[in-house]
Amino acid sequence: MARTTVVKIGGSTLGSEDTTLQDVVAMHRAGDRPVVVHGGGAMITDWLKRLDIPSQFVDGLRSTNAEAIDVVVGVLRGVVNTQLVGQIVALGGRAVGLCGVDGGLVTAERYDDRLGFVGRVTGVNAEVLRGLLDSGAIPVIAPIGLEPPSQPLNINADTVAGEVARALRADSLVFLTDVEGLLDGQGALVPELDQALAKALREAGVLAGGMIPKVDACFRAAEAGVAASMADGTVPGMLRRVAFGERVGTRIVA
Ligand SMILES: Nc1ncnc2c1ncn2[C@@H]1O[C@H](COP(=O)(O)OP(=O)(O)OP(=O)(O)O)[C@@H](O)[C@H]1O
Ligand SMILES: [Mg+2]
Repeated sequence: MARTTVVKIGGSTLGSEDTTLQDVVAMHRAGDRPVVVHGGGAMITDWLKRLDIPSQFVDGLRSTNAEAIDVVVGVLRGVVNTQLVGQIVALGGRAVGLCGVDGGLVTAERYDDRLGFVGRVTGVNAEVLRGLLDSGAIPVIAPIGLEPPSQPLNINADTVAGEVARALRADSLVFLTDVEGLLDGQGALVPELDQALAKALREAGVLAGGMIPKVDACFRAAEAGVAASMADGTVPGMLRRVAFGERVGTRIVA
């Protein structure tokens, strides 16, 4: 049975000397069904600066106004997605780029006036992806959702990856980032994370920043029976090692 693996590539690992895209193509050749979700926050910041559009942060989250959402869509769906698709095609994989707006894949809604065009996921239409996967394509998803009838919203890429894995009932969800996995208060790797430990680390302020949406997404996916984990995407071969069940990074135990 072909295994469906949702891989979230962190903006933090994009452009490093990793082998993630080679691993994705190799897994696809071996008969698996990989789905890629990517971030790109750093490049958005860079383009907003170049275009002289000020960034405002509310509780650590970027507020996205009408001007900024055009830049977010342009950079994520235009620049970052097209780059990744081109690189996978160059490696011999039939990557197809899309965002949550395409085919109504990810529906979303605004949830905080102060954040503007930032969305939370209200639904995922997994059929859009199944069609692509059945045809032998490797879907590469930019984290933009559709607020009906036609408004694009900026969504956290980790959240999109978790909801997509859940809706697809994927076999696994792998977050590739720039750290070994979740680290505890002493900086040591947490190999297995359950809800109780996550709660304690969060309350202690150890589980913070970019790890919060990842851990939340892992538990959301794990609830649907998806094997969820986080690992260092800058290490060559990491994705395949995780996919083969090697004990690396942080694994979620539901
Ligand atoms: N307890 C923790 N263990 C490990 N990393 C942590 C922890 N708490 C916070 N972090 C931070 O989370 C970062 C990873 O999340 P981050 O959002 O920066 O990367 P990403 O999601 O891979 O990339 P992007 O957001 O660009 O898609 C780490 O580099 C680290 O600085
Ligand atoms: Mg992040």
